[in-house]
Amino acid sequence: MANGRTAAITGSTGGIGTAIARGLAEDGWSLVLVNRSRTKALAQKEELQRDFPTIRIQTVQTDLMDLESIKTSCDEIAQITDHIDALYCVAGVLTSQRTLSAQGHESHYAVNVLAPYALIRNLAPLLTRAESDEHGMVVTMSSSAINRPKLDTSSLSDPASIGGLMGAYAHTKLAMTAMCVQMAPELEESGVLIRAIDPGPTKTSMTSGGDGMPIVLRWLVPLLFADASTQAAKVIKAADPEGLDKRTGVFVSSGRIKPLPSSIAEAPERAKLMDTIASAYASS
Ligand SMILES: NC(=O)c1ccc[n+]([C@@H]2O[C@H](COP(=O)([O-])OP(=O)(O)OC[C@H]3O[C@@H](n4cnc5c(N)ncnc54)[C@H](OP(=O)(O)O)[C@@H]3O)[C@@H](O)[C@H]2O)c1
Repeated sequence: MANGRTAAITGSTGGIGTAIARGLAEDGWSLVLVNRSRTKALAQKEELQRDFPTIRIQTVQTDLMDLESIKTSCDEIAQITDHIDALYCVAGVLTSQRTLSAQGHESHYAVNVLAPYALIRNLAPLLTRAESDEHGMVVTMSSSAINRPKLDTSSLSDPASIGGLMGAYAHTKLAMTAMCVQMAPELEESGVLIRAIDPGPTKTSMTSGGDGMPIVLRWLVPLLFADASTQAAKVIKAADPEGLDKRTGVFVSSGRIKPLPSSIAEAPERAKLMDTIASAYASS
């Protein structure tokens, strides 16, 4: 039965995104599936609509490697829904290949950092809760990998090496987590909470088949990593605005709020990062 709430999900065609979309559909959420592959998204919509006929499911195409495409798709989302209760920024990149976005940013920075920033900025009017007691929610996908690197704002757009799990991927997940903390006060003014949630090690194409995962770790995935549906349920729970003491601007891992890594614990470092992100976005 539809519950009257709407979630927009990027990367709903991926492993964790698929499981989050299904978990939300089971709870009666209407869905806006935001993906680059129209074919995969339409197949997903058909399957979900068959299993959950009472909820509304819509698809919007976007390429998160292109800030212009993101803006266009956000306009499209505003045409098809007048509110979003939860925005799940699930899409992410982990690769050993260097690829540049339409605006010239390396792909990890473009998809893992700039895309969520652009989505939040453009969809903020739909998330706003000016006349309601309920909170809107923004969820981004963080990672345990953020505990290793130091924040290096100057190299995000053009890293010296891409370097697997602990390279550009970890640096951009760290930056994205810092970004969430820094955006929280502004969002909270309009009744929107934001949480950077680590889904935990999950069996998906990113970890099992992708070229960014070190080969040794790939062998361990079937043994040590959990199913996407198990991890998605934890993400959905951690995204409940009423849970986790209604806290915002937090990093959540294993269902608990965890301390921020030391290199993003200080506000001046995060503010410097935000200037860099905002300027990359503004010049697109
Ligand atoms: N798996 C893990 O163990 C793990 C652990 C911690 C955090 N995470 C994070 O969780 C999120 C989901 O990961 P996953 O394991 O489910 O990965 P996945 O199966 O590889 O899915 C990635 C999703 O991102 C989408 N995507 C990538 N580039 C895009 C672009 N340019 N434009 C639009 N969409 C794009 C993919 O679209 P296509 O379907 O078109 O390829 C896919 O839907 C990621 O942010 C990841 O970093 C994963």
